[in-house]
Amino acid sequence: MTEIMNGKKEYDRSVQRAAKLIIAGDVVAFPTETVYGLGGDAMDPQAVKKIFQVKGRPADNPLIVHICEIAQTGLVALEIPTLAHRLMEAFWPGPFTAVLKKQPGVPHITTGGLDSVAVRMPHSSLARDIIRESGRLVAAPSANLSGRPSPTTAQHVWDDLQGKIPLIVDGGACAVGVESTVCDVRGEVPVILRPGGITAEMIREVAGSVRVHPAVLSETLEQQTPSPGMRYRHYAPRALITLVAGKDSDIADKINQMYFETPEHCVIICMHEHCSRYEGKNYMDLGADQKDAAKNLFTVLRNIDKMGYKAAFFHAVETDELGLALMNRMLRAAGHTITAAGEDCID
Ligand code: TXA
Ligand code: MG
Repeated sequence: MTEIMNGKKEYDRSVQRAAKLIIAGDVVAFPTETVYGLGGDAMDPQAVKKIFQVKGRPADNPLIVHICEIAQTGLVALEIPTLAHRLMEAFWPGPFTAVLKKQPGVPHITTGGLDSVAVRMPHSSLARDIIRESGRLVAAPSANLSGRPSPTTAQHVWDDLQGKIPLIVDGGACAVGVESTVCDVRGEVPVILRPGGITAEMIREVAGSVRVHPAVLSETLEQQTPSPGMRYRHYAPRALITLVAGKDSDIADKINQMYFETPEHCVIICMHEHCSRYEGKNYMDLGADQKDAAKNLFTVLRNIDKMGYKAAFFHAVETDELGLALMNRMLRAAGHTITAAGEDCID
């Protein structure tokens, strides 16, 4: 049986109950500012094993260790370079995950056998209070079944994990809506392995420079991917997803043509400014700006299947700021293929 507690109305009771379960070696779903997490004691291999089992997650895909004080980084990381510290000071608490050299005491299962560890201090006070109350470091992947879009509401968690976990703490819809930025901060230049709530522009501002790993916006060869999670088909509705990129007017022509040629029940996903290009057709509005779109993206992905669509066409977004995270998720939902629109593109 899965219990849902209202983390807003019953804040203290929710925190205590979630912490108790974590202390007992169990796993619980709780909100963070990015997406809901499925948390368990990061230093307890049995608890971590449960997380992998509940999600159906491949064992080589490491988890993020969640903390509630910057100083706790030293409990799992062997070395904290000055630059890493500057970035943590700038973005914590918040949607930034630092990849650092791992302490030998961190269980292998938690880091998927890697010699690095990913650490994050969430902005959500509910999340941080659960971590603090448990007195544990909390390993927490997104609280979805592996391969499904990440959950941004308690209902999404319920849809995927009901009956499999004892507790979901409901904190309402997540404010950011895409996951944290996973950033390798071991070297001289920070490398973004997974774009997220903290943008490349924000990191450059603090660090002076930043690199975006090529796997973020292109098809990934397994060996080239430093962030194991990027290898897997992810965020993927059952419907066939086609991501169309190019000039906006060319994209619209291409999508309108493909929509017309598709016999199945299909839908178009686009930013608000482009909705008028698809009048009279089924479309879903991602939002008026990047922030809105980030907040809505995973609900939209889940609704494609819920509403029975068999195919969906994504109108590509710009890749600046939060757009990089949006395109990364869209690309992965589309199985890493981009359909080019426009005369000068061969497709
Ligand atoms: O916003 C978030 O990060 C959410 C909330 C719950 O905090 N968590 C989350 O966890 O998205 P998860 O497990 O769904 O995604 C973690 C990503 C995966 O792509 C994983 O491969 C990568 O971080 N990762 C974890 N440890 C790593 C490491 N040591 N080196 C490289 N990548 C790592
Ligand atoms: Mg995930």
